[in-house]
Amino acid sequence: KNKLLEIEERLTMVCELLQNEVTYYDWVGFYFKNGDKPELKLKAFAGEPTDHTIIPFGKGICGQVAVSNANFVVPDVKAQNNYIACSIYVKAEIVIPLFVNGENIGQIDIDSHTPNPFTKEDERFLEFVNNEVGKLFE
Ligand code: SME
Repeated sequence: KNKLLEIEERLTMVCELLQNEVTYYDWVGFYFKNGDKPELKLKAFAGEPTDHTIIPFGKGICGQVAVSNANFVVPDVKAQNNYIACSIYVKAEIVIPLFVNGENIGQIDIDSHTPNPFTKEDERFLEFVNNEVGKLFE
């Protein structure tokens, strides 16, 4: 069995764990930069399937984080003009870049049906999760 598949299975387990254990994490996914193409590709998720499995750099919250390399916390998705809606129920979103050897290779993306649920604690926690996940790619 090839190594990439094993990583995607592990990532799916991480998504399922987070979505099950944190009440306001309604959709959890990992997007990664797609080879040499200027786009992100969804590699693992938990929650409702999304049509947005490919996101061009710069588009939506995810695409913006691909170029900014910075956390993006959105308390109210309706207040964003560069936003890609995946579900009518989503009220808030958090995207945290995933660095391996200092390089932004992807991100964790979480949608919430609760308005303004994300705090600094979520940012620190998800940075820790990404740091652990990043070890799979070293
Ligand atoms: N809302 C994201 C798109 C991905 S879905 O949330 C799964 C965005 O604006 O980039």
